[in-house]
Amino acid sequence: MFDLAEHAEQAVLVHVNFPQESSSEDLQELKMLVSSAGVETLHIVIANRSKPDAKFFIGSGKAQEISDAVALHQATVVIFNHVLSPSQTRNLERLVQARVIDRTSLILDIFAQRARTYEGKLQVELAQLQHLASRLVRGWDNIERQKGGIGLRGPGETRLETDRRLLRERVAALKQRLDKMGRQREQGRRARQRAEVPVLSVVGYTNAGKSTLFNRLTQAGVYAADQLFATLDPTLRKIQLPGFGPAILADTVGFIRHLPHDLVAAFKSTLQETRDADLQLHVIDVADPRRDDNQQQVQLVLTEIDAAEVPQLLVYNKIDQTELSARIELNEQGLPMAVYLSALSGAGMELLQQAISSLLSEQHVQYTLLLPPEQSSWQARFYQHQCIVHQHYQDDGSCLLLIQLSQRQWGRFVKQSDGLLENFIVTAPEF
Ligand code: GTP
Repeated sequence: MFDLAEHAEQAVLVHVNFPQESSSEDLQELKMLVSSAGVETLHIVIANRSKPDAKFFIGSGKAQEISDAVALHQATVVIFNHVLSPSQTRNLERLVQARVIDRTSLILDIFAQRARTYEGKLQVELAQLQHLASRLVRGWDNIERQKGGIGLRGPGETRLETDRRLLRERVAALKQRLDKMGRQREQGRRARQRAEVPVLSVVGYTNAGKSTLFNRLTQAGVYAADQLFATLDPTLRKIQLPGFGPAILADTVGFIRHLPHDLVAAFKSTLQETRDADLQLHVIDVADPRRDDNQQQVQLVLTEIDAAEVPQLLVYNKIDQTELSARIELNEQGLPMAVYLSALSGAGMELLQQAISSLLSEQHVQYTLLLPPEQSSWQARFYQHQCIVHQHYQDDGSCLLLIQLSQRQWGRFVKQSDGLLENFIVTAPEF
């Protein structure tokens, strides 16, 4: 796939203010994204519109302004801070005589550059191809309509047809390979669940400091860069929490507003780690003026991947850039809700470990169950998960069990039993 950085491109950026959006922040982010992609910004064109124009997205006067800026600065690419339709892209390219890419392509490109593992690379390639395929399909429709269909097929269309077939084949091959990797990942996850080692997933807006925090907690030397999206693949590490025991730490992708849908879909299996985690560490750059909005955006992505129900500890990072000092914030129940720290300087890291330990300990529950003989397979499951504290057989063949496990694992068991397990809970155990 294309790679912006390889050619050290020089760009004209285009941003349109729509009245209903708070757009100035977004322009700031576009600039960050562009420099993160290794592209130099030569000129920025800003327009105000009530709604997009069908032909150029922006008005024809502004389109001409872009064209002039491209010629003047000898830019090689025009980057829109919006999603363009294929025909808008084509019309613009024809007019400005340079490559035109939209926000989705830009983000996909950055992800392509940052992917570290083989799986991450394949996931990004799949998203890029799917983005491309939607354009080719629509492009084809357009041409067909223009030419009046049958009997008028030209060489352009034949190439499109070939392109589409090749794309389909590559997409199918990628999906197959990713499915296989997803299954292997699933096996690993099951093994970890069986071992009852809690999983902590580090989530957060891009550049919040996830990799730095991950490194601090593991001292694993995972690559952290002063660029967006330094993290693309969840990296799993085992850590020891003082006062609790072992836990698995999973680093995840950097989130961003308007994350392209294809990309979220392609990363589904990787993000599963986040959905199944026992606790999410939501890292927030406390020194960033947009922190509240970023926090909300992360929450939106978590909802989209069904991971919004997982308990969360807020980690307010980068306090060294503020007047704040390291501390734990408790909620009404007296449980840790947020930790203020600096992953870079290390200030507050022991508070974080304390907070995690107390939340994980809190998440463990005890139940006494009276299992009828026909439900003995559950006993085997509990045994497998090493969560049986006591067991005692009754005369009628039923079994009285005391189990201790994480709240989340209990939730999983209850779900698997369609709620049946809850009927076996007894309140006055007699061992
Ligand atoms: P993505 O992978 O893009 O999502 O980024 P990330 O969230 O993993 O951020 P990363 O750890 O790569 O950190 C981003 C930048 O913030 C780097 O330049 C870090 O050195 C810096 N950083 C991280 N933690 C702190 C901190 O506590 N204080 C300061 N001042 N900088 C920090």
